Amino acid sequence: MSIITTKNLSKEYPSKSFSKEKILALNNFSFEVESGEIFGILGPNGAGKTTLIKILLGITNRTKGEITIFDKEINENSYKKKLGYLPENHKFPNYLTGEEVMKFYGKMSGMSGKDVKKRTDELLKIVDMEKWRKTKIKKYSKGMLQRLGLAQAMINDPELIFLDEPTDGVDPIGRKEIRDILEEMKERGKTIFLNSHLLSEVELICDRVAILNKGSLVKSGRVDEITLVPDNYVIHCSDLEENIMNRLLTGFKVTILGSNEFHFKTQSYEDLNKLIDFLRQNGILIRGVQREKNTLENMFINLIGSQN
Ligand SMILES: Nc1ncnc2c1ncn2[C@@H]1O[C@H](COP(=O)(O)OP(=O)(O)O)[C@@H](O)[C@H]1O
Ligand SMILES: [Mg+2]
Repeated sequence: MSIITTKNLSKEYPSKSFSKEKILALNNFSFEVESGEIFGILGPNGAGKTTLIKILLGITNRTKGEITIFDKEINENSYKKKLGYLPENHKFPNYLTGEEVMKFYGKMSGMSGKDVKKRTDELLKIVDMEKWRKTKIKKYSKGMLQRLGLAQAMINDPELIFLDEPTDGVDPIGRKEIRDILEEMKERGKTIFLNSHLLSEVELICDRVAILNKGSLVKSGRVDEITLVPDNYVIHCSDLEENIMNRLLTGFKVTILGSNEFHFKTQSYEDLNKLIDFLRQNGILIRGVQREKNTLENMFINLIGSQN
């Protein structure tokens, strides 16, 4: 079931200078987010990611296009009760303690004092910030601030959570902690929509991604699907004698990588099986057949690079 659907969403900002050209931050962007998934929007700085989140949250107006969230057009405000939001580069007043920040946001979302207290206890435990709850946040590291930010984004027990660059500026251990929290949110049935320019992060956590560049959708799909290089295999086997190597090179589209591994390119599974038959008939032991994968980063650089 899809929880967010957009069709041909566009956003134009007025130009910053006297030149008449407007800034097209989103250009006919259509996508869907399924309930219960972690969905990532990837794109370089200025791609339009924050603009997209702000439009979905109703903070910024769209120029054109359709948006449904929880099966309703978003003109009505009621859907916002089921949302959580962690803004990009958020700043809490630094004289507050962790629990005071939670109280501030809980009260702002209309919760009773009792409910705020209960949720704060629960959430600070989830994000592993209990022992810092009475410490002023000016003493927090970036990772701790982001963990508190995640707790804040969940104060009203939202179904759908928007996170704008949640791991930006956080060290690798802090990032892993954030990923674990996001996994836990997902296990609790939440849908997570996150923006990031950090590819490896997204690769590790998102079920599906959409790649955005200069406001337009470049590619979307499951991370494992979009990083798969079709029809390329790496084959590991027992040592190949010279005459077998020669027959491989003449009979098949292979590139030898070493004495016991080679690359095989084919359009069909029949060809792959013919190759395996050939190897087996010649007494070669197959140790592994891997379909080759690209990293999201390589794919991203190829895609974005070719557009600039
Ligand atoms: N309030 C605004 N007024 C004018 N231009 C804006 C505004 N906000 C963003 N932009 C422009 O829109 C484009 C997309 O920005 P943004 O959504 O912040 O991208 P991202 O989050 O992917 O870095 C950029 O060219 C940016 O300069
Ligand atoms: Mg941004």
